[in-house]
Amino acid sequence: MLHLATLDVADDDFAAAVLAGLAAPQMTIPARFFYDTAGSELFEKITQLPEYYPTRTEIGILRDCGAAIGQIVGPGRAVVEFGSGSSLKTPPFLRAVAASAYVPIDISAEFLAMAATDLAAKLPELPVFPLAADFTRPLRLPAGIAARPKLGFFPGSTLGNLGPAAAVDLLRAFGDTLGESAWLVIGLDRRKDPAVLEAAYNDAAGVTAAFNFNVLHRVNAELAGTLDPTAFVHDAPFDAALGRIEMHLRAVRDTAFSVLGRPFALAAGQSIHTENSYKWTLDEARLLARAGGWTPVELWTDAGAQFAVHLWRHDAASVEP
Ligand code: AVJ
Repeated sequence: MLHLATLDVADDDFAAAVLAGLAAPQMTIPARFFYDTAGSELFEKITQLPEYYPTRTEIGILRDCGAAIGQIVGPGRAVVEFGSGSSLKTPPFLRAVAASAYVPIDISAEFLAMAATDLAAKLPELPVFPLAADFTRPLRLPAGIAARPKLGFFPGSTLGNLGPAAAVDLLRAFGDTLGESAWLVIGLDRRKDPAVLEAAYNDAAGVTAAFNFNVLHRVNAELAGTLDPTAFVHDAPFDAALGRIEMHLRAVRDTAFSVLGRPFALAAGQSIHTENSYKWTLDEARLLARAGGWTPVELWTDAGAQFAVHLWRHDAASVEP
């Protein structure tokens, strides 16, 4: 999972991003700010919800395809996980592909320490090189794995928070980071019946709503915000034209508030847009690979056609005819 919250620079970054986002005609707050401690706990709860199929579906697919991936990419690769969080999917995957080293990358030093401790217990022989970094920026891998062939690992459909242009940029950055002859295993949620998608983001127990409202509470608590939670509702429709679930905090009446002393107002029906979660057809996912500098080689999915785990090979720079 992606836990971008525990940024060392959280305060500055949060304030600047929120003030900029609220100044736009369609107000926004970037989705990475969901994940403070309370938000990360709410996300863990989301992954257990009956309506939220992605996590358990992906775990099942990875369990089934791990050995096949190991066959294709060969044993002994250094697995580089982008946004490792406190992921439980990782140890079985590392075993299945016979990893020779593991580089968890996460912006939260706290989650990295947890992951490293967990790994040391489960795979005591495996060299682990944690990297505290923002993987959306260019980064240098630890010198200790320079000589090893690389296998990127990016599960959870985390890429779905990015629009097409940003997604392509990130995939290209992964290629630059991992180098020639690298492979990437990436979990991407699939396009499906809007009713199924909308149920996953509008669960009956209201956990996703609480997750959405958590960012409002953060603004109030950390940025001297005066947002009235009773003026907003959780709204998470699927936009079929854009191929994404959108999460909004939608005003149910005219409401005015301030953040860090600056005044803002919303009319009834207007919203603060808090997240996009893109859903791709298999063809769209393969086109995304190509656009991002990767060659789609294989993919695995579940019997319900809900989620896909893709295996992509880094394209060698070549001259086209
Ligand atoms: C962690 C970005 C993959 O988009 O499904 C879950 C976050 N938001 N419910 C997703 C999320 C609302 C999740 N990702």
